[in-house]
Amino acid sequence: MHEIKVPLGERSYPVLVGAGARHRLLEVLPIGATRAAIVTQASIPVTVDAGIEQQVFYLDEGEEAKELASVEALCRDFAVWGLRRTDVVVAVGGGVVTDVAGFAAAVYHRGVAVVHVSTTLLGQVDAAIGGKTAVNLPEGKNLVGAFWQPSAVLCDTETLSTLPPRDYRSGLGEMAKYAFLGVRNLPDLAIEDAVAACVAAKVDFVSGDERESGRRALLNYGHTLAHALETVDRYDLHHGEAVAIGLIYAAHLARRLGRIDDDWVAEHYRIVGGYGLPERLPEGVDPDELVRVMGRDKKATHGLTFVLDGPAGLEVVSGVSQDLVRATLNDLAG
Ligand code: GLY
Repeated sequence: MHEIKVPLGERSYPVLVGAGARHRLLEVLPIGATRAAIVTQASIPVTVDAGIEQQVFYLDEGEEAKELASVEALCRDFAVWGLRRTDVVVAVGGGVVTDVAGFAAAVYHRGVAVVHVSTTLLGQVDAAIGGKTAVNLPEGKNLVGAFWQPSAVLCDTETLSTLPPRDYRSGLGEMAKYAFLGVRNLPDLAIEDAVAACVAAKVDFVSGDERESGRRALLNYGHTLAHALETVDRYDLHHGEAVAIGLIYAAHLARRLGRIDDDWVAEHYRIVGGYGLPERLPEGVDPDELVRVMGRDKKATHGLTFVLDGPAGLEVVSGVSQDLVRATLNDLAG
């Protein structure tokens, strides 16, 4: 079992990664908690035993559950059950569950402890780590939320075998990103070691920049195009698949700007292709629409902003011209 500490002063916490990590729940519960509100979705085939009085609360299925109404419903159910500020919420699931349960924990009684038991690859290498919680509004994704660090995260790699193959592969898209954030030999590692290496890399970014005023933004490598593809929402892409295309795109863009060479572009193809992830834009994309969506940033009149690789490593690069952004989309046309 790997144990990675997230060093955030009094908000520090451990992340346990390995087969059977969910069975360590009792030992990571906050001292004094007498009740555990387990938040999950009915489709998640993972159960936990908190070792104290517990009750299971179900969110609706899918991304639709990531809405403010779910947070209100959960908090009302917690109140009816009698959850107190000194008790604990335990989120069991992927990013939807940890985001909604984490946000409910952040606001219930002005903040109650939460432990994340992350059951998806995407969640284990990203969503469950670092304390970002959020729900969507009709106006956009993740627009309402809070930074609320969990008191522990359990990444049980046994639960990954319960994932539909496409969800697992989607997680590999988020994992591929870490190959460019300093994690070496990622494809050669056993899954437990690969997850732990990604967690350690993420922890390094989060602990130096908890609220994303700087370096943490580099975790969004590949995400500018990915978010645009997801926002357009016509392409049947899972998040990690969109990130995979976004990584290839970011490599081409950096190449056109003279920031990286052909070998480094080829390395992006090697990593993304090695995981069996898509490398090309889906059929029928409208480049102008993607440029418009990527440019919805207030800085767009002076060009677009991307995380790009370069001689000094990953950097946030602003002022990339719309023409170059559009031309690079053609490099990836399906
Ligand atoms: N998903 C990026 C972050 O947690 O900062």
